[in-house]
Amino acid sequence: DAPKPLLGKKAIVTSGPTFEPIDPVRFIANRSSGKQGHAIAESLAQAGADVTLVSGPVSLPDPAGVTLVRVETAREMLAAVTNALPADIAVFAAAVADWRAADAADQKMKKDGSGVIADLKLLENPDILATISASGPTRPALVIGFAAETQNVAEHARAKRTRKGCDWILANDVAPDTGTFGGDQNEICLITDDDEKTDERWPRQSKTGVARMLTARIIDHFA
Ligand code: C5P
Repeated sequence: DAPKPLLGKKAIVTSGPTFEPIDPVRFIANRSSGKQGHAIAESLAQAGADVTLVSGPVSLPDPAGVTLVRVETAREMLAAVTNALPADIAVFAAAVADWRAADAADQKMKKDGSGVIADLKLLENPDILATISASGPTRPALVIGFAAETQNVAEHARAKRTRKGCDWILANDVAPDTGTFGGDQNEICLITDDDEKTDERWPRQSKTGVARMLTARIIDHFA
């Protein structure tokens, strides 16, 4: 049997996009395949962690050995994460939609011939990573976020780590020419503090490879 260094540790992982309804047939979403988050959930479970995966809509097989909670919206995702607390480790890999329609229509909206949408008011969604990072006594010991950037990746990610109040940030370059979105490969820079000298640049590798490296890094952290 494989060693289980994370036995006794509880982990929460978010994955996939969120869908924010505009009306019964339309929604706002972000690009996300869920591949990276699902791979992390599975890898943590293989290392012995008790994993709750909170996932938005994806077309991926359910990862082995995790408790899967399916959600659609950011607010449902936050509720599911909160419900899964307490935890030792939280990894926020979901691409949460930043906005939702203020008043989603009950019936399909019709084009009125004017050429414009009369009124689509958007509200900001809760920031799940920031909320859980500031959750006081129930805050997981290790809170990890992602920063998908298209330029100055490490610099923007370092600022994001401070702003969100999380412990680690996995920064990745999602510029269109990198093929990261929907692809199987990812190139990560792990940021664990404010000092850029401690940035860890990981080789470009598969999303499962990234998941395994992150799991190994988490095992080290708790050792
Ligand atoms: O602010 P930005 O979306 O770039 O931050 C990315 C990180 O924050 C990711 O870890 C993502 O899962 C998390 N996030 C979140 N809730 C939001 C927005 C982002 O948990 N509403």
